Amino acid sequence: MAIVSSNAASQRPRPDRVPDRVVDGARQAGDDLEPGRSGTKEDSLRPKRLADYIGQRELKQVLGIAVQAAVGRGESLDHVLLYGPPGLGKTTMAMVLAEELGVTCRITSAPALERPRDIVGLLVTLQPKDLLFIDEIHRLSRVAEELLYPAMEDRRLDLTVGKGSTARTRALDLPPFTLVGATTRAGALSSPLRDRFGLIQRLEFYGLEDLQAIVERAAGLLDLELSAEACSEIARRCRGTPRIANRLLRRVRDVACVRACEGCIDRDLVDEALTLHRVDGRGLDASDRRLMELLLQSYGGGPAGLDTLSAALGEDPATLESVVEPYLLQLGFLQRTPRGRVVTAAGRGHLGWPDPQEQVA
Ligand code: ADE
Repeated sequence: MAIVSSNAASQRPRPDRVPDRVVDGARQAGDDLEPGRSGTKEDSLRPKRLADYIGQRELKQVLGIAVQAAVGRGESLDHVLLYGPPGLGKTTMAMVLAEELGVTCRITSAPALERPRDIVGLLVTLQPKDLLFIDEIHRLSRVAEELLYPAMEDRRLDLTVGKGSTARTRALDLPPFTLVGATTRAGALSSPLRDRFGLIQRLEFYGLEDLQAIVERAAGLLDLELSAEACSEIARRCRGTPRIANRLLRRVRDVACVRACEGCIDRDLVDEALTLHRVDGRGLDASDRRLMELLLQSYGGGPAGLDTLSAALGEDPATLESVVEPYLLQLGFLQRTPRGRVVTAAGRGHLGWPDPQEQVA
């Protein structure tokens, strides 16, 4: 499997853009990525095939059928939009799809496609059936989006040659390809772009059983021995998110290493490591608690508007909305109401605040 990546914005000046990374699904499953070039710590724990991908049953079912049908017809897979909170496996799924299709996965992100030539450079180098993964697709520039429309719909690249009154449009045929777009903010996509995806799928937070299985798998890959209780403790405290589960597992490994822990890592050691990193029993971290405490201390538990909260916390509203809040909403600790955000009785209870109704009584 091969990966190509590009990060135009951070690596200027570069005459020709290449994608951030390329993953070649035609290589043998289980091959390591090119060391130092494309392999990240996260990559080493990613499942490579659908069969190894734990959780997201409905998503796997839908995409598994679409892949099988596309392969059977000898066609490229239809364009796919994956959306949901960060860390749930959108990039991993794109790589898995490329592997299942036996094609190359070209990985980039919208901020790297700032100028028209960034996206043009990427599209003209596509090989038949390649999978092009664009992360944070809601951040695509208007020009990039407009170049993508005919590319997605008619496999046509409309190039403008020349300037001013001599400018002409040239159409270039593109090979069949699959665009996989990923976003934490599906609502921020323009509807013409959203409408060009044949498959639109939401990734959900993972349940405890799946998370425990993910931690067990990752521990095996890292050559760590953890008790079932230790795995389940990480599962409980990772915000329903595999990326966080793997990150916490690495922090647990650090503590085990420093404590010269021999043999099996137990629940107490996990608790020590996660408490050190200020991750509480339900997986809330410092940002979650800051938001909830602000609501409770300054707004009597709410309602308070997103912009007010983001200004008080010095946090970008989009980050609060798409990164911090989804897990609090999922736990039922926070509610979004027409008048603003409100901490629920469960949220108060978790932070040790008394229930105001009981106080009145
Ligand atoms: N590692 C991260 N996400 C995973 C998943 N969904 N299945 C298996 N391992 C993973």
